[in-house]
Amino acid sequence: MANVLFVLGTAREGRNSKKVFDYVLSVAGKRSDIESIPVDILDFLQSGTLGLPKDKLETWSNLVSKTDAIVIVSPEYNHGYPGELKLLLDSEYEAYKGKPVAICGVSVGSLGGARMVEQLKLVLNALQMIVLNTSVYFSNVNELFDKNNKIKDSQFWDKRIDEMFDSLVEHIK
Ligand SMILES: Cc1cc2nc3c(=O)[nH]c(=O)nc-3n(C[C@H](O)[C@H](O)[C@H](O)COP(=O)(O)O)c2cc1C
Repeated sequence: MANVLFVLGTAREGRNSKKVFDYVLSVAGKRSDIESIPVDILDFLQSGTLGLPKDKLETWSNLVSKTDAIVIVSPEYNHGYPGELKLLLDSEYEAYKGKPVAICGVSVGSLGGARMVEQLKLVLNALQMIVLNTSVYFSNVNELFDKNNKIKDSQFWDKRIDEMFDSLVEHIK
């Protein structure tokens, strides 16, 4: 059983990425090889670099240390990643090393956050993580969910998310 940390990378009020995050977690919940540890960045907001209170910093470091792999669900903001996500990632260094990480991009447009994903990969490389190429791009997010926030084309998306999870588990040392 792999411990996988799931990070929702935006704190924006009304964030659509939360629907994607919940959906990705629901797919993980159906697997027997993944134990999900969800992290909402709202619980780790800080005002500046290395600005987490001591208890939160310890919590984040412990979470990253005990996890086998990470999945980041993040929107694209002005072609990049949300600032709060970068601040959280910068709060730790050693514990990321050698761990596989996968990214799910989210956007209202047709690219599904692809530009953000490419930028985030550079940061994750600097943290010496194993960055997977099985990113999933949730484009046109406003069209993807029904009124009950259930994903419409679950067959299509489940396949992609499961492929991402397969690759993640394969890369765990
Ligand atoms: C500050 C800001 C910048 C944005 N920049 C982009 C962008 O560069 N490309 C894009 O496709 N969508 C952009 N969007 C729209 C997002 O795709 C949209 O908000 C989507 O729902 C995902 O973000 P959310 O989780 O905040 O809702 C931006 C939204 C905000 C709030």
